[in-house]
This record gives sequence, C-alpha cells and structure tokens, in this order.
Amino acid sequence: MTAPVSDVRAILAARPALLQDACRRALAYLDGLGERRVAPAAEAVAALRGLDFALPGPGLDASHVLAMLDELGSPATVASAGPRYFGFVTGGTLPAAQAAAWLVAAWDQNAALAVMSPAAAALNAVALRWVGELLGLPAGTAGGFVTGATMANATCLAAGRDAVLARHGWDAAGQGLAGAPPVTVVVGAEVHAAVRKALGLVGLGRDRATVLPADGQGRIDPSALPALGGPALVCLQAGNVNSGASDPFVPLIAWAREHGAWVHVDGAFGLWAAASPAAAPQVAGVGEADSWAADAHKWLNTTYDCGIALVRDRGALRSAMEATAAYLPGEGGTEPMNLTPQSSQRARGVEVWAALAFLGRDGVAELVDRTCRLARRFAGGMAQAGHDVLNEVVLNQVVVAFGDAERTDAVIAAVQDGGTCWCGPTTWRGRKAMRVSVSCWNTTEEDIDRSIAAVRACAER
Ligand SMILES: Cc1ncc(COP(=O)(O)O)c(C=O)c1O
Repeated sequence: MTAPVSDVRAILAARPALLQDACRRALAYLDGLGERRVAPAAEAVAALRGLDFALPGPGLDASHVLAMLDELGSPATVASAGPRYFGFVTGGTLPAAQAAAWLVAAWDQNAALAVMSPAAAALNAVALRWVGELLGLPAGTAGGFVTGATMANATCLAAGRDAVLARHGWDAAGQGLAGAPPVTVVVGAEVHAAVRKALGLVGLGRDRATVLPADGQGRIDPSALPALGGPALVCLQAGNVNSGASDPFVPLIAWAREHGAWVHVDGAFGLWAAASPAAAPQVAGVGEADSWAADAHKWLNTTYDCGIALVRDRGALRSAMEATAAYLPGEGGTEPMNLTPQSSQRARGVEVWAALAFLGRDGVAELVDRTCRLARRFAGGMAQAGHDVLNEVVLNQVVVAFGDAERTDAVIAAVQDGGTCWCGPTTWRGRKAMRVSVSCWNTTEEDIDRSIAAVRACAER
C-alpha cells in the first residue's frame, strides 16, 4: 500500500520493519560475497533496466522500494567488498566500520560544525589525531575528512599554494591567481592522475608541472634535482598505483626544504605503510613533508567515501578552507567545515574512529603486513607459472604480463569473465599488464591460491 509522506504516523509505524528488512537483506548480501561471481553476470546488469521507470506520481511503498533495490540492484553489484577482488585499490569494509556506518546513518548528522553534532566533531578530532599518530606525522597536524584522495590532494595543494604565495607577499585566498607570482610545481614522472586533476582544480594546471624522471619502479630519481626559485610546490608519492613503490622522501624533502618549497605527499593507500614497523621503511622520512593525502576507504577498509587531508600547519589549512558568515560560529579553528572544502558533510570520522578503535595499532600493522604477504604469494604463483611479474613487490601491488599486449588483454578478460576473482588492466613501463591490488581485510591464503589457479587456467587456455 502506498504511504503518503504526509502520513508521518504510518511511516514511523512501518520504520522498524523496513529497517529490519534492510538489515536482513544486507546480511544476506554480505554472507554471499565470498562465493558469488566477483563481476556480476551480464543478465544481472541487463536487469537493472527494471529500475528505470517514469518517476511515479504517487510514491511507492518503502518496503517495495527496498525490495526492488535488493532484487535488481544487489545482483548487479561487483563483489569488491569480498575476498577476491583485486581491482584498483579497493578494500572491503571492516565489520566494525560497517556497524559504525549503519549507526551513523541513523544519527544523520551534519559534521560541519560542533554545534550541529558534538559527537561527530569529537570523533572526527580523535580519529584525525589517531591517524596522525599512527602514521608518524608531526604532533598538531591538522586535517579533515573529504570524499577521497583526489579531494584530499586538492585540499592540501590549495593550502600549500596559498602558503607559498603568502611567503612571497601574495594573498591567493583573497585575490586568486590572476597577477600572482608564478608557482613552480614539481611532480614525478609517475604522478597519479588524481594529483594532476587536483593541480588543475586549484588553478596550478594539470600539465604545467616540471616532471622529474623516475626509476624502474616509478620512484623519483633523486640524483639530478633542479634548482627551484620563487614559490614552489613539490608533489611526492607514497605508493605507486601500479608498483606500490614510494619516492625516496629523505633526499627529496631535504632538497625541497633547501629551496623553501612546500612538500605534499599523495599517499592515497601507500601512506598506511607507515603504520607497520615492517612496511614503514618503504616510506621512511615521509613525516617530514608539509601535507599528506590518504584514503581510509582504501587500505583502512572503511566504506566509501572517506579521504583524509592532513596539513602540518593548521593555520595554512584553515586560511585556505575557512568560510565565515553571521549565522556561523565565530571561532572556527577546529570546525570541520573550516578545514575542508565542503561545509555540510557526513560524519566520515566516526567510521575511521571505529576502524582504528577496533584494529588498534597492532591490527592496522597486521592488516598492512598480511595483505603485503598475500601480494607476494600472488606474485610467487604467477612467477612459478612462468608469467612475468614486472614490479618488485614491495607493498600490496603486483603487475604481471602474459606475453604480448593482445594475450595479456585476453587473459584479463577471461579472468574477469570467469568470476573467481577480478583484476584490472594497466600499462607499466610501456608493457600491457594485469594489476593485482590486495587491500581487503577478508582475503585469505586460500583466496589467493584459488585466484592464482583461476588466472593460470585462463593463461593456459
Ligand atoms: C596514489 C593514488 N592517488 C590518488 C588516488 C585517487 O583516489 P580517490 O579515488 O580516493 O580520489 C588513487 C586511487 O587509486 C591512488 O592510488
């Protein structure tokens, strides 16, 4: 029966059953993740047409809306939260984070201001402090939760841009970039596309950066660094999206400092290596930078979307991000809306708090170490079968080729079609390859072995 939205009593009366039904369906979905096809079947994708109908005049019953979503939507999802999804860098959600997300959805808080949600603001602040401590960042590092690493990079680069221009007497937040002294931007040859996009968003241009050469693993080569003059931003990387390798921070940051440059690190997933004593040497010295972008929705395994922008100088972040108005609280030094590009925002920090409280320092290190170990196991299985592992497996990423481009494409297509696991394509140092990213808390050795067998069977076909 249709429940008109004006019938508040009826909607309230139906709410418990509706949410219990949602919970039951969600649990059934999660229970099926481990054994279902990873990529959805073509018929399931085609059936999504059933969700595309003329917007109804009188609305539909909420339980019917939910049933349609589950019956037509769930089968057409990718099992990226399951144990054998190795595409992009996509961790599944930890149950502790998922439970927090469900509770936060019930809270329905706007985390823009403490006055709008004392709980969200307090948990945001604790989560940011824990992240900074875990990653070995300087005490007092400021930050905020944003949609993902693309926005985290843009947030940090906006703060860096304004700070280096202020040192040269220019108020970029107030006056913009027209007439400003030119800002020199430096990136590595293997800079992630998200950093280029972020540079474009903050008015520094996707394509005008000086590009430093990289070595065979994608790390900036620190042996021949140019002199920098005037305001300068140096963009480094923790965790290449293909190889997993990180730039050598110690010499690069020392060089940038000599020239008075702001150092920003894109550490979307790789920054989490700093949380593991075993993996931390990969990112040695990263804490000396000025700003860092990371994602909780990648290796920390919270739900989407959850990027983290971290800036050493709170004042620099705040002056780039603050917004004032008569109806807003005057003291904005710690308010999330004054440390991030968005004003209204969901309470992303709550899930990060829950994930970190559940994992503890030891659990984050174990998650990082285990996924790195499983990536090495995957690479070993590929090498043993005679396939070309193209990278040194220093983190959780593996790049593997199966002969020429055509054959590699055919193997990737067969792997995806087979449904046991999912890996995506890439081109690494001029060679077509398959990317494997092991980023999920629930992947086991058995999942890796099943996936190796599936890939080998596709390659032998
Ligand atoms: C190194 C790096 N930077 C940035 C991004 C973009 O992250 P997001 O999709 O959260 O914006 C990614 C995504 O894989 C990445 O690996």
